[in-house]
Amino acid sequence: MTNFKRTILALIIASAAIISPAQENLSALLPIPEKIECRTGEKAFDLKYAAITINDCEDSPYIKEELERIIEERTGIKVCSSKGKKSIEIVLSEEKGKEEYSIEIDSRHIRFTGGSEAGIFYALKTFDQLLLGDAINSNEGKVAPIHIEDSPRYGYRAVMLDPARHFLPVEDVKQFIDRMACYKYNVLQLHLTDDQGWRIEIKSHPELTEKGAFRNPKGGNNGPDNGYYTQEQIKELIEYAAKRHIEIVPELDIPGHSAAILAAYPELGCPFRHGDAKEIGKVTNMMLCASSEKAYKVYEDIIREVAQLFPSKRIHLGGDEAAVKDNWAQCEECLALMRSAGYKKPSQLMNIFFGRMLEYVRNNGKEAILWCELDNMWPPANDYLFPYPKDVTLVTWRNGLTPKCIELTRNNGHKLIMAPGEHTYLDYPQWQNDLPEFNNWGMPVTTLQKAYELDPGYGLKDSEQEHIIGVMATLWAEAIKDINRVNYMFYPRGLAIAEAAWSGMEQRSWESFKKRLYPNLYELMKQGINFRVPFETGGK
Ligand code: ACM
Ligand code: ZN
Repeated sequence: MTNFKRTILALIIASAAIISPAQENLSALLPIPEKIECRTGEKAFDLKYAAITINDCEDSPYIKEELERIIEERTGIKVCSSKGKKSIEIVLSEEKGKEEYSIEIDSRHIRFTGGSEAGIFYALKTFDQLLLGDAINSNEGKVAPIHIEDSPRYGYRAVMLDPARHFLPVEDVKQFIDRMACYKYNVLQLHLTDDQGWRIEIKSHPELTEKGAFRNPKGGNNGPDNGYYTQEQIKELIEYAAKRHIEIVPELDIPGHSAAILAAYPELGCPFRHGDAKEIGKVTNMMLCASSEKAYKVYEDIIREVAQLFPSKRIHLGGDEAAVKDNWAQCEECLALMRSAGYKKPSQLMNIFFGRMLEYVRNNGKEAILWCELDNMWPPANDYLFPYPKDVTLVTWRNGLTPKCIELTRNNGHKLIMAPGEHTYLDYPQWQNDLPEFNNWGMPVTTLQKAYELDPGYGLKDSEQEHIIGVMATLWAEAIKDINRVNYMFYPRGLAIAEAAWSGMEQRSWESFKKRLYPNLYELMKQGINFRVPFETGGK
């Protein structure tokens, strides 16, 4: 056994000792459910004698297969005959919300009730954790009587992967999807374009991937520097994720973060920079030109293809970190456009640029998401107006700016997604001197506890946080070369964010989370998923 495994096993044994036998089934529940009632004194349900009855999801063999797989993996018991004496029932109920579910277990029945197939799916994920807790503690194939009622705090529980910086092959993304589903995440945002690569096939503009997907001409087509998803592969990923109740939201980052597209089409940038070297992967702060008709035409095509490909109603168009001073402010065409619009600052051209780009999104029946910028990057025409069109959902991310961002989006009628850098930027190191090996941005340390401390409502009154629709963990991948490193940066902090997104503040506690973490780390280890061992939580 390696030292690593010995340490983690010691931590698991230490945490198991804290859990009393009556709580064994609860020891791995993560995110913590809304209501848990242990029926102590009643006999356990013995899975050896069980048969599965599916009342409402007959047309979804996946649900039944999932249940059979869970029971067999956790207990070694095969439950596939209909002859068992004790029944496991799966029921759909219109009285429950879409993702809401309940689990009722007594000595003779197990009943999973869900408001939709998603609710049933989450019931099974919770049941899997009940068995995991039991397997770690007693391994008897018996489930203690219990009643769980559960529903999410937020309907939008996202993780962002960044295959633009380092390409992640399809199989690796699928592995990541499998795990995120266990923790009830339901959105995967794919950051598909950036300076380091263009990662999605666009049939009307094949040069985008022919030129923009290959940072290292000598490398292959399968990461980390090179590669792209064909539209067939994107469909495969969408279907794989949808089966696990995860929606994939595409992100095309404009007008900054554009070196890869400019390597394919230099003429989409400001003319005074046409002669500059366009090197994929070199962060030169180049932008699309706000006065380039061709840039609008190319993106109209791209957005149309992307909208047709992804069933999600949302498309993320970036809008972050645009170097206006180095581009639009020095471009004769952009300055002429600014003057003709009556603007005083080149950054106000964002109104024209996104005015057109967002129209393409709307024309395709979709809604746009943008990263929220509060400084001078996208200033309002007059200082009292928030500049974003109201139908845009914004994401708060910059350290320190979230309270302001919550207030402005509330006052201006925007939906808001919470990705405050302090808690949810999982590219930041997890401990002083921990990975990543290089730290471009003077990143702060985001410990597991700091990630856990996220209250997505920032402690505000209900009426002040109603516009917050969810949470997103981000895995910016400048320093993340492959899926093993993705997992190392995500786990266990991704579990803390999963609980922030699903569970209400009344149910959550750091002390309880630390205990429930260990069976889940054991599970990750068993599945061969990389994670950082949180030594700091093992002390007392
Ligand atoms: C961002 O981190 N540039 C949104
Ligand atoms: Zn220009």
